[in-house]
Amino acid sequence: MSTQRNILITGGAGFIGSHVVRRFVTKYPQHRIINLDALTYAGNLENLRDIEQAPNYVFVKADICDAEAVPKVFKDYAIDGVIHLAAESHVDRSITDPLAFVRTNVFGTVTLLNAAKEAWNTVMEGKRFYHVSTDEVYGSLHDESLFLETTPYDPQSPYSASKAASDHFVRAYGNTYKLPFVLSNCSNNYGSHHFPEKLIPLMINNIRNNKPLPVYGKGENVRDWLWVEDHAAAIDTIFHGGVNGETYNIGGHNEWKNIDLVHLLCAIMDRKLGRTAGESAKLITYVTDRAGHDLRYAIDATKIERELGWRPSITFEVGLERTVDWYLANSEWLDHVTSGAYRSYYEAQYGR
Ligand code: NAD
Ligand code: TYD
Repeated sequence: MSTQRNILITGGAGFIGSHVVRRFVTKYPQHRIINLDALTYAGNLENLRDIEQAPNYVFVKADICDAEAVPKVFKDYAIDGVIHLAAESHVDRSITDPLAFVRTNVFGTVTLLNAAKEAWNTVMEGKRFYHVSTDEVYGSLHDESLFLETTPYDPQSPYSASKAASDHFVRAYGNTYKLPFVLSNCSNNYGSHHFPEKLIPLMINNIRNNKPLPVYGKGENVRDWLWVEDHAAAIDTIFHGGVNGETYNIGGHNEWKNIDLVHLLCAIMDRKLGRTAGESAKLITYVTDRAGHDLRYAIDATKIERELGWRPSITFEVGLERTVDWYLANSEWLDHVTSGAYRSYYEAQYGR
């Protein structure tokens, strides 16, 4: 691969995308990073304040479903690599509005694939389309097994069904049009800049505000948690070293029952906020379970570890401490997100 690249990162204003953009902008000054994001409720340019003036960074506000705007970006910036993260990402929202997920995750991904196929039509050599996906496409585990790259797809929610469809389209474009692609399926991420509709930041925010902590069902569902910066490092590793046409599972070897995780967060927050031990846990409230709630996700990440040498860099204990510290030090960020004030940042910054 050439040393100088024009890399389109979609969804770069979101949780994981902002970590990927920051990593690429700072680590690869020779690459130009084009962040294309529609700035939905989940897109927050405040996440990228520290790097937005970098000479190798460009922001484009556009929708991945826009069949005029997307090809124009490929042309204007001579895009030769794509890291596709833009998506509707919250399972609960997919239950109330499945079509929004079909639109962005399926229609949007295919629009992006079409633009890449057209732009790279004559020379596919050296190009790369990296599709970032989730372990949820494999469905729900009810025994001790782990998801492998070869595990058959069995999505159970509208979110995971839409991500599974997008994965199938990426592979179909690889097979049919010889589009050079790599794909990864990752477990649940946690860390800074996580929108507080997801479990960990929602609980941190509610503990800090002394609000009830809504645990779905009996809290017995299990998730494998990975620090978001380790996911960004895995994406970097796969983008630069992965083999075309291959899929890599990424995970933290770190399974937690929701209720145990919430208790751990309560204990950390009691300590940080100077509360009596056990005080925050009194806020735990069991609520109606999520419809069709997947019981357990767990990843076997042996392939990326063995073939590409990637491993999680920190333990969950360290990562969770860091995450809580970040939210406590950035309560303004949380307040902006929960009040909607972050949405005016784009206008103030970009004047449109
Ligand atoms: P997020 O919801 O925090 O961010 C999504 C970003 O995409 C936002 O910036 C949003 O504005 C943008 N976006 C949404 N619709 C768009 C559209 N139509 N056009 C352009 N931009 C649009 O999501 P996230 O948690 O950072 O997840 C990023 C990707 O990683 C997703 O593809 C998700 O499926 C995948 N993933 C997430 C996790 C996780 O734990 N969060 C785990 C594995 C994989
Ligand atoms: P979430 O962060 O939405 O990620 P995902 O559903 O994609 O794994 O939820 C993580 C787990 O936490 C999941 O089992 C649902 C549960 N959960 C709650 O118990 N309460 C909540 O308020 C939320 C948002 C999630």
